[in-house]
Amino acid sequence: MNVAVLLLLGLGLLEAEGRCFFSRTQDHCVCYNLSQESVGSIIQCLAATVVEFRGGELERYAAFPISDLDPSTTEMLGSLVIRKIIFGDLLVPEILLAQVLRFFSYTQVQELVFESCIFKGRGNWAEMVSDDLPILSLRFHNVTSAPLTGREQGFSSLSSWLETLQELAVTGSHVTSLPCSIGRLFRALRSLDVAQNSLGDESLMPTFCEGAFPQLQVLSLQCNNLTSYHSVCESMQLLRELQHLDLSQNKLMADPSSSCQWPVALRIFNLSDNGLDEVLTPLPPSLEVLDVSCNHLHAVDISLSSLKKLFLSQNMLQAAPSIRDYPMLDTLHLDNNSITELPWDEVKLLGHLRDVTAAGNPYNCSCSGAGGVQALAGLVHLGQGWPQDYKCHSPPRCQGRLVKDVLVSVLQCNSAAVIAPVCIALILLGVAGTVCLVRSRPGLVRPCLRV
Ligand SMILES: *[C@@H]1O[C@H](CO)[C@@H](O)[C@H](O)[C@H]1NC(C)=O
Ligand SMILES: *[C@@H]1O[C@H](CO)[C@@H](O)[C@H](O)[C@H]1NC(C)=O
Ligand SMILES: *[C@@H]1O[C@H](CO)[C@@H](O)[C@H](O)[C@H]1NC(C)=O
Ligand SMILES: *[C@@H]1O[C@H](CO)[C@@H](O)[C@H](O)[C@H]1NC(C)=O
Ligand SMILES: *[C@@H]1O[C@H](CO)[C@@H](O)[C@H](O)[C@H]1NC(C)=O
Repeated sequence: MNVAVLLLLGLGLLEAEGRCFFSRTQDHCVCYNLSQESVGSIIQCLAATVVEFRGGELERYAAFPISDLDPSTTEMLGSLVIRKIIFGDLLVPEILLAQVLRFFSYTQVQELVFESCIFKGRGNWAEMVSDDLPILSLRFHNVTSAPLTGREQGFSSLSSWLETLQELAVTGSHVTSLPCSIGRLFRALRSLDVAQNSLGDESLMPTFCEGAFPQLQVLSLQCNNLTSYHSVCESMQLLRELQHLDLSQNKLMADPSSSCQWPVALRIFNLSDNGLDEVLTPLPPSLEVLDVSCNHLHAVDISLSSLKKLFLSQNMLQAAPSIRDYPMLDTLHLDNNSITELPWDEVKLLGHLRDVTAAGNPYNCSCSGAGGVQALAGLVHLGQGWPQDYKCHSPPRCQGRLVKDVLVSVLQCNSAAVIAPVCIALILLGVAGTVCLVRSRPGLVRPCLRV
């Protein structure tokens, strides 16, 4: 709508007051149900960098005669500071969109968002052929449109723009597949977010076909209909630049016979909330960030020498993983597991660890459980949950008390630390005593301890 509106503005069709609200602090302007009558209100939005249009009727503008702009209007469009435009709760006739999109080439808008919009009909994109648009990021959330399949030809008219686009999101829109030829248009795309759709295992291979998304670095397949870890891995083979893959909120299952290798550039991997009983393998070999939170893991027996961040919250772990297996680790999250103690000897090996959280575990405060946590609290930042969410679960007399408040007896809980010096002292005394005896033999009696 906005371009139609800007156009009206440029054409001098402004009238009356409307319903735009400008928040100067947020640099954000929202317009509700703009109509031709209230369009004058948009003037106050011209100083904002983010402009949002919610509700209103665009259909009646579908037949609006849009001619070429005069120089003063293009100059005005070029001087606007608006960088991001959001359209929400709108019915968008595609024919109008195709007509007005080309006016964006005069603006400096970099980000275009459509939320809860219905695209109606089919646009004639042929007019766009020669236009370059400044838009680098395009997002659709909860939108419906005619199926993409069969419209590749139409979209190829947009190729000079699409091949410069860097970020694309099509989320919550019941997408079941993306045609291979569409992926090939996005030659510079770095980030693709197709979360909350209905992509299945078998639709990935055609989507990420030879030549599709060749520069892709970040891919989110969060909350889709994926089940086979192996076939997801196979589908990623051609994404050689892929660094960040989000597979969270699916139902992935292991395939023991799989020998598929993930793209070597992969550094950040999200397997959160997949109902996993064990960590899936093989994992990308050079992982730096692994999120396997919100699963049903009882143990973690992986060893990744490059790993820096490991997220294990909301599982059923009985013990913290041995940090010896992760020499580079700086972040370890263990909240809401079944861990009863953090062993002292592990705590002493902190290495690079700086960010550790382990709230919501049933700590055994009879001994080293409390001592280990207290020691850790003295060495790292235990997160927002410390101290109030670190509670004793056993023994019964301590139940419900904060771990912080438990008096830990060093002698009882870390006997090695106390016993070693005591033993050494006793041995020294023994030696002293022996020396004493030996020296006293000639008959010269002296107090032993002065030796
Ligand atoms: C999704 O968009 C439709 C209109 O297309 C709207 O009625 C619905 O409320 C939206 N759903 C959400 C969750 O925003
Ligand atoms: C998810 O995939 C299964 C088969 O793998 C299919 O039966 C089911 O209909 C799919 N669900 C959705 C919502 O697409
Ligand atoms: C993994 O995905 C979940 C959502 O499914 C998100 O909350 C979490 O922050 C992600 N983890 C990382 C490390 O980005
Ligand atoms: C742990 O569980 C509590 C209660 O269910 C929840 O409020 C909290 O967000 C969880 N913390 C994490 C890090 O998952
Ligand atoms: C708590 O720790 C003590 C001493 O280490 C042990 O004897 C006891 O069985 C533990 N209790 C539970 C519930 O694990």
